[in-house]
Amino acid sequence: MAVSRLFLAILLVVPTFALAEETPSTPTKEVSYFRDVRPIVQAHCQGCHQPAKRGGDYLMTDHASLLESGESGSAGVVAGKPAESYLVEMITPVDGKAEMPKGKAPLSETDRQTILRWIEQGAQDDTPESAKTKYDAEHPPTYVRPPVLTSVAFSPDGETLAVSGYHEVILQKADGSGMLGRLVGLSERIESIAFSPDGKLLAVAGGSPGRLGELQMWNVAEQKLAYSIPVSYDNVYGVSWSPDGKLVAIGCGDNSVRGYDAATGKQVFFNGAHEDWALDTVFSKDGSHLVSVSRDMAVKLYEVKTQRFVDNVTSITPGALKGGINAVARFPGEDQVLIGGADGTPKLYRLFREKARKIGDDFNKIKDFPEMPGRIYDVAFTSDAKQAVACSSLDGQGFVHVFDVESGKKLLELEGPLQAIYSVSLSPDNKRIASVGFDGQVFLHDLETGKKLNQFAAVPLMPHTASTN
Ligand code: HEC
Repeated sequence: MAVSRLFLAILLVVPTFALAEETPSTPTKEVSYFRDVRPIVQAHCQGCHQPAKRGGDYLMTDHASLLESGESGSAGVVAGKPAESYLVEMITPVDGKAEMPKGKAPLSETDRQTILRWIEQGAQDDTPESAKTKYDAEHPPTYVRPPVLTSVAFSPDGETLAVSGYHEVILQKADGSGMLGRLVGLSERIESIAFSPDGKLLAVAGGSPGRLGELQMWNVAEQKLAYSIPVSYDNVYGVSWSPDGKLVAIGCGDNSVRGYDAATGKQVFFNGAHEDWALDTVFSKDGSHLVSVSRDMAVKLYEVKTQRFVDNVTSITPGALKGGINAVARFPGEDQVLIGGADGTPKLYRLFREKARKIGDDFNKIKDFPEMPGRIYDVAFTSDAKQAVACSSLDGQGFVHVFDVESGKKLLELEGPLQAIYSVSLSPDNKRIASVGFDGQVFLHDLETGKKLNQFAAVPLMPHTASTN
């Protein structure tokens, strides 16, 4: 009796397993465009299919344009009909290769199935109203109030000032006498901009918080997007160029630091040593090393070629530094860096240690400059390395201090009143400082006297139209 019951139990159990294997439970989950499909398109397609760069004349930056056709005349997506959707044909691998993404590995099977299922299920749009934005060169953003400005940069010839806007970078004549152009890209927020050493390219780091991180590369003379690279799903910061103009580096909201071949956009450096957002980067004098600073309070040194972490430049003793570090600049001609952050004190460090590390040491520190009110957001050097500049803000008020590097003393404060200042740039002739911040104004000050020379709105304001600012 006992034996036969056991036998029966086995008989019952075994077929159940076999059955479960033959018909795996595939819940026909509703695929969401916004949650599931958009991130795939963003990571693999949008770089080449956006208003500023229309591969095959096909746009993929919003739901409606996915359903349209490009130069082929065939609709990219036909709701309910994957077999009639040209997009599906383009991403379906044949002998392990797919037409799209062009020049890259085919999409993963999971991603491809997600897109197929979404089309099968009717290719519905569930984009929240707040996430719908459609700007391009013909339809630039309009502003009723000036946008917060996070970044400003003089071109190497001193003729142009690039200023971060909302969804765009504005090119202004450096004396403020007129606008030269608007570089409208995908990212809502621009965090950082930097001209290549020869001034031909402008690297732009930004994103749409929680959705997209992006590195844009613009050809300055043509005001054309050379390429756009999606980087993780959060903003990217602190873009910098190697001295030879061959590489660009960025810090990322996913804590990583990345480097790219500037000509091709290919990622050539990745390091995840930080424990919080990496906010700024700079290369060593010969470009062989890269430095990054982060909200985790650390200044990290890497070897570019091997992508390896080399050293913590600052002390890693708890309490030695307070709060995050926002900015780093390299001392012209030396392997030394100026850093600034939450503790308000600009500090000069040498990059390569001359003594073996002892726990808790801060041997690499060369000097502190006098403390500024509030948090420091940006630091810079004059090209002759004589002066250092830092900007800070406290309770909405902005400060820009100029220091004598040799003596470490404060030389002057720029004439105010200023609201919070987030970025500074020095003219190549070291005569003027441009600064931008919370109030959307570009300020030009005389470096020698600290007197204000000029002030102008970074973007054109349209007081009487409905706005999406
Ligand atoms: C590196 C740039 C690049 C990337 C990335 C890219 N494309 Fe393309 N795509 C192009 C170019 C350029 C064309 C024009 C045809 C050609 O040159 O092959 C094109 C054409 C197309 C077309 C045909 C449009 C038409 O009607 O003629 C579709 C559909 C398409 N791409 C879908 C995608 C999808 C889906 C992805 C992402 C999985 C993607 N592409 C990624 C560059 C790119």
